[in-house]
Amino acid sequence: MTESFSVLRLRNQIALVTGGSSGIGAGVAKAMAAAGAVVYVNYSHSADEAAAVVKEITDAGGQATAVQADVSKEADVQRMFQQILQEQGTLHILVNNSGIQQDAKFLDMTLEQWQKVIDVNLTGQFLCAREAAREFVRRGPQPDISAATGKIICMSSVHEVIPWAGHVNYATSKGGIMQLMKSMAQELAPHRIRVNSIGPGAIATPINEEARDTPEEEKNLLTLIPYGRIGQPADIGKVAVWLASDEADYITGTTLFVDGGMTLYPGFADNG
Ligand code: BGC
Repeated sequence: MTESFSVLRLRNQIALVTGGSSGIGAGVAKAMAAAGAVVYVNYSHSADEAAAVVKEITDAGGQATAVQADVSKEADVQRMFQQILQEQGTLHILVNNSGIQQDAKFLDMTLEQWQKVIDVNLTGQFLCAREAAREFVRRGPQPDISAATGKIICMSSVHEVIPWAGHVNYATSKGGIMQLMKSMAQELAPHRIRVNSIGPGAIATPINEEARDTPEEEKNLLTLIPYGRIGQPADIGKVAVWLASDEADYITGTTLFVDGGMTLYPGFADNG
């Protein structure tokens, strides 16, 4: 057991991390497993990558299983939840993380590019959150496991508030996630289900590799980050564990930006 296994804040909790096979999702899956959760690592196409994340977790003494589903497809999502409930009896934490970018200038953006990003990033979060909330309400409270009956964490972005030219499909999906999260939080609070978002800034993952693969591009990107470094998936993993834990029991309906200050309008630091 590594040292991080000594703080088991999510002990006996079953967690599903969508898009857990790479990037931020993999960072969250590993952090939750290290905090004692039994983690389902969802993937859509990358079975090998999901298996590698599961292996890393189990090699470190944690518990994880890979589960396939395209989160934008209702039948896939329902099959995934059925599998988890059959194997574990219930679920305590959903991390709605799957997300993609298909960038294009607005004038050139195809309906297909628009639809695909909305389907995965926004509809996918709706479908998974609905299944999770149904299970939380069916099962009811388990106070010996967690103060909340269930926890949903939506992976949003700084682009739920920062407009993004050349990425209107993506920025729209993240703006939509903000209202999806808040409206769910309002409706589900009486059931003691907490719903929150994490808004990552620039985290070093495959999704933004192109924006930082030359020293020049990396320098440009850093001008947007007052704290002066690009984030790592582990930066998000730690926050996700805390937000899912009882230490954050009074937090619902909030987006926690984890962005090194990207949402502080750094362009105004010496201008305006
Ligand atoms: C995007 C990344 C981008 C970051 C900051 C994220 O939501 O997926 O590509 O680097 O926001 O702009």
